[in-house]
Amino acid sequence: KRPLKIAPSILSADFARLGEEIRDVEAQGADWIHVDPMDGHFVPNLTIGPNVVAAIRPHVKTVMDVHLMISPADTYIEAFAKAGSDVITVHAEAGPHLDRSLQSIRDQGALAGVALNITTPLSVIEYCLDKIDLILVMTINPGFGGQKFTHSVVDKIAAARKMIGERPIYLEVDGGVSPDTAPLCWNAGADVLVAGSAVFKGGTPADYQRNMDAIRNS
Ligand code: DX5
Ligand code: ZN
Repeated sequence: KRPLKIAPSILSADFARLGEEIRDVEAQGADWIHVDPMDGHFVPNLTIGPNVVAAIRPHVKTVMDVHLMISPADTYIEAFAKAGSDVITVHAEAGPHLDRSLQSIRDQGALAGVALNITTPLSVIEYCLDKIDLILVMTINPGFGGQKFTHSVVDKIAAARKMIGERPIYLEVDGGVSPDTAPLCWNAGADVLVAGSAVFKGGTPADYQRNMDAIRNS
């Protein structure tokens, strides 16, 4: 019924070979490609901007899922849309006008996602559910790959699934997803699992296939 999607986060890929890495994980069965722009302000790390996203776009044959860790995000939504993002997710904590950010993402022709940090309650999206295409529940403090999954957030995943009801909204989980924690997310109702370090460890296409199979079969 509910299909599972695995979205490798290229944060853990070899940045000198992003195009090749994307083609390799897609060839081994990745459903979406998860991209993590960071501004050094909302999170204590810097990664990539719209020009790099545009450069990798031709290599993504599936869905380019762009998770903005930028505050405020509004100034950059158009640039990331023009760069070819299929999904653009903003953090609820990142700007004063979440409703406006969501509308502007849809106006640009992308699917609108909202990310919730560990301590952010689901209630912040209660009155804009009709403008949301994806809810991203963070199971780490954003900024870096390879962190430990936060078990207390599993209840929030389940509550988000309940809140979604019959609405056509994806429920994505990001942070510390591995063969050990993926079943917790899936059983709580998640349908898109982001995984960075757990997918790219090993560094070869054969590893990527084995790593994604391990998550899928868990
Ligand atoms: C971190 C990013 C994640 C990160 C996840 O802020 O949002 O997408 O790449 O990495 P893992 O799967 O290693 O926790
Ligand atoms: Zn992410």
